[in-house]
Amino acid sequence: MDNMNNNLPERDGFASRFGIIAAAAGSAIGLGNIWKFPYITGIYGGAAFIIVYLVCIAIIGSPVMLSEFAIGRRAQKNAIGSFKVLAPNTPWFVTGWLGFLAAFSILSFYGVVAGWTLDYIVQSLTNSFAGADAEAIGGMFGTLVSKTWTPIFWQVVFMAMTAGVVLGGIKDGIEKYTKILMPMLLVIIIILDIRAVTLPGAGAGVAFLFKPNWDLINGEAVLSALGHAFFSLSLGMGTMITYGSYIGKKENLGEIALQVTLADTAIALLAGLAMFPAVFAYGIEPAAGPSLVFITLPNVFQQMPGGYIFQILFFSLLAVAALTSSVSILEVVVAYFHEEKNISRKSAVITATVMITLVGMAASLSMGPWAGIKIPLPGFGSVNIFDWLDLFSANYLLPLGGFFISLFIGWGMEPEDVYEEVSNDGDLKVGYLGLFKIATKFVAPAGIAIVFLSNFGVFDFILK
Ligand code: PHE
Repeated sequence: MDNMNNNLPERDGFASRFGIIAAAAGSAIGLGNIWKFPYITGIYGGAAFIIVYLVCIAIIGSPVMLSEFAIGRRAQKNAIGSFKVLAPNTPWFVTGWLGFLAAFSILSFYGVVAGWTLDYIVQSLTNSFAGADAEAIGGMFGTLVSKTWTPIFWQVVFMAMTAGVVLGGIKDGIEKYTKILMPMLLVIIIILDIRAVTLPGAGAGVAFLFKPNWDLINGEAVLSALGHAFFSLSLGMGTMITYGSYIGKKENLGEIALQVTLADTAIALLAGLAMFPAVFAYGIEPAAGPSLVFITLPNVFQQMPGGYIFQILFFSLLAVAALTSSVSILEVVVAYFHEEKNISRKSAVITATVMITLVGMAASLSMGPWAGIKIPLPGFGSVNIFDWLDLFSANYLLPLGGFFISLFIGWGMEPEDVYEEVSNDGDLKVGYLGLFKIATKFVAPAGIAIVFLSNFGVFDFILK
């Protein structure tokens, strides 16, 4: 393989172990951890849901992450090209296509939500929530998302920032920025945690997070936990295949997968810990849903000593987390255009960004002037463009992608090749190999199949 590439320019890649972790953890840690994880934990009653989520991460999430790294590093290619290299003349490359589609749909609405966070940073700086009660803040949020130009303006700003990072390439773009942004994120979240747990009355929120109450755990909760595990770890769409292809041949992939999984989980828990004590201390409903971050929290900050500063920090945290994730999604599309369509990286970045931003504009408009446009999605009735992109990618594309990725490692690739890749040609002892095989051959595909089929209501007779 190496000889084949002798006359090609050297492939860009990560320069350091810390850079790999910052970039991959930066991808995993995002709106999923800080916006979505706390609110679904709130809906399903706290600690018990977290335990179910942790089990999903451990037995399905981490093996699929290692699978993606191994596929990408072995093939040295983007998410679609990897399957073409490893399994030529077979339909496996369709897995990469699912990922490409998922990247496209996720980034289009992700950019819109990230745009809202930029608007909130400015509103926090200008203290525009001052004196507003929960209802008024809710009204302001509703007005923002349903406007025509303001959210599009911020979405474009955010997408331009994303493109700016990706334009720099891997070493001098993605790695360079995530190495600065991820430690920043950690510092901000720890400051917010200290503030939250030292509030009078914080104990109830801490108990909510750590004392399991199994009453609200039903089939739907388990399925949401599994779906969220995929979204949160950036799995099932080739992000980690693409990043894996930039990881050096001497790095220990199993160790990296474990570290990224732990970092993602730790930040989700820290985000919960920054939010629930405050929510409980001010007597606010923990099950507020998706508006928890955009409506409930500004209300909490209004009442909290030092709230002005903490609110600015919080929305900056959200924007940073979103940016290091969005670059990883854009990179999936860019690497594909660049390597498979033979266009320069720069043209690839511009083409991908423009296309995704245009679809994202439609998603943004669908919260306002285009709210009347409803598109059918099997299992979900008819929904607006924004929800369609979100639900279609999270409930169809990611689980399907993850299913085929684990099948590919478990059954498609030669066991010898898988072993060589995870053990660096036998240099590393991989004591987990047996478990990894069971996970990729049986546990992950079966688990994912259950989530997927449940979206079609196949198991309703058991769940009801
Ligand atoms: N993991 C990111 C988050 O939690 C979202 C994401 C999904 C990123 C899929 C890449 C791929 O916000």
